[in-house]
Amino acid sequence: MTEAKNYDVLVIGSGAAGLTVALQLADTARIAVLSKSTLQAGSTWLAQGGIAAVLDPEDNCDSHIQDTWVAGAFLSKRPAIEHTIRNGPPAIQWLIQQGVPFTRDQQGYHLTREGGHSHRRIIHAADATGRAVHDVLIRNTLTHENIDIYEHHIAIDLITRRKLGLAENRCIGAYVLNHQTSHVSVFKAPTVILATGGASKAYLYTSNNDGTTGDGIAMAWRAGCRIANMEFNQFHPTCLYHPKAKSFLITEALRGEGGILKLPDGSRFMHKFDTREELAPRDIVARAIDHEMKRLGCDCVYLDISHKSSSFIKEHFPTIYERCLDFGIDITREPIPVVPAAHYTCGGIVSNEYGCTDIPGLYAIGETAFTGLHGANRLASNSLLECVVYGRSAAQHISSLPLSQLNNTNIKIPDWDESQVTDSDEDVIISHNWDELRRFMWDYVGIVRTTKRLERAKHRIHLLKQEIAEYYSNYKISRDLIELRNLATVAELIILCAMQRRESRGLHFTKDYPEQTAEASDTLIAPLNFAWPDSVRCDDTLKKLSNDETD
Ligand code: FAD
Ligand code: SIN
Repeated sequence: MTEAKNYDVLVIGSGAAGLTVALQLADTARIAVLSKSTLQAGSTWLAQGGIAAVLDPEDNCDSHIQDTWVAGAFLSKRPAIEHTIRNGPPAIQWLIQQGVPFTRDQQGYHLTREGGHSHRRIIHAADATGRAVHDVLIRNTLTHENIDIYEHHIAIDLITRRKLGLAENRCIGAYVLNHQTSHVSVFKAPTVILATGGASKAYLYTSNNDGTTGDGIAMAWRAGCRIANMEFNQFHPTCLYHPKAKSFLITEALRGEGGILKLPDGSRFMHKFDTREELAPRDIVARAIDHEMKRLGCDCVYLDISHKSSSFIKEHFPTIYERCLDFGIDITREPIPVVPAAHYTCGGIVSNEYGCTDIPGLYAIGETAFTGLHGANRLASNSLLECVVYGRSAAQHISSLPLSQLNNTNIKIPDWDESQVTDSDEDVIISHNWDELRRFMWDYVGIVRTTKRLERAKHRIHLLKQEIAEYYSNYKISRDLIELRNLATVAELIILCAMQRRESRGLHFTKDYPEQTAEASDTLIAPLNFAWPDSVRCDDTLKKLSNDETD
């Protein structure tokens, strides 16, 4: 048996959510932070527009709450919205204290505007907010002596007491592959935090970079957690359309600052779909673009900001200006070709305002979590806010527990067993299945759905899962195989949730049920063996821990 790595807290994911919780806990706990790639992997570093929070004295939390509720098509949970929005301003203050250089103007911090917001309330660092936030969090994490960083380490599966046949279920660690050495280690910790981001890589076209394969959602599902609302995949309306521009987003703030959507003939069209025109919530704008592209048979529409002065554009959107210029598009003079692409996963692991999941000791925060905040559609720039707010509240909850008494170093965890598997001789199966899955998800489970298309997708995913399971049990694991297995799981969860919803609401639009029903409810999926009466929520967890573990 090889020696396990022991920590107080294992954080899986190094985005805004993971690094916030790690920094919040590091003064009192020994922490391991894993990233399956470099620390910059994931969506945080890519974020452009900014972070929504009530920072202007003329704005107020009730208005931000109402905007979130309306964008979410009245499906969000009021306590989750209240928790997030009211804890927004202190979360931003914490980021400023950490050293994030948000853009300033003469009045203080500059606030921009995005779709669905009734006030200017997006604090930002020009058009590269994610990079500014992430750079600072990474710098502070790297210099903290209580945090150990493991790059290129991909968590394969969670380890729970139930899986080991022990009483009183609890998450106690994870099997982790170092994919540079191909070695699998056991990481043991009484507290495990999933901060693994979303699952937009399930789609052929996405604004996300490599890695958002829903690993946390799939691991939590296999470990016995409930998953909810996976049908709500947010498609960002405006990604750059260019054969060489892989997944480059054109921020919504560009529309917030006056950008206009146009058809190839130069005419405007958003007024036909919504009175808020370019600043309607993203589900409406993405669907409108999809509709016009299909109606006209064109490859893209255009986003035009060239009526603004060149200096304004270069000052507010320096990254986009430079990037488009690389592709021969001068945005100060000509419109930008754009298409919608999968952007954000609104559903995820069922968790409460402290990130507690159905398994004691296991937390989920950031894009991987389903807290009920986003309902049927996320309001622009509420995601980074969620990462920081929930990173802080999860830390608050974890700090209130008797960590030292939860030590599980005596539990014997078996090594990862590779005695029955060999080296793969046909990696083409993995790459083929990746492509096939992402293509049929785009074609059958995309912006506009039908029951027939969902049934086709269900059939395909069933076959793919069988093939992947066979491959998984016969060959040594690799990062690609782990991700493919997880993608297949989340794709199935998306399809099952979409089939359960017999209405169109927010991001889920089906031609077979085009109306929104009067009663809104979540699509909740529980694993077969889910022990409903044992379903432990946050406050119960606290009680259970102090009763059982401290005796
Ligand atoms: P991520 O930042 O995605 O990080 C996930 C981490 O988990 C990574 O470190 C990854 O390596 C790790 N990981 C995943 N699986 C494993 C595994 N199995 N083992 C080990 N590590 C693993 N939101 C806003 O609010 N405002 C914006 O302006 C904005 N702009 C955006 C622009 C783009 C182009 C994109 C793609 C998203 C944008 N979003 C924005 C959304 C927002 O950036 C993300 O929702 C948010 O950053 C997610 O943060 P996270 O910490 O949950 O996950
Ligand atoms: C953007 O800048 O348009 C992305 C904002 C978000 O995803 O919230």
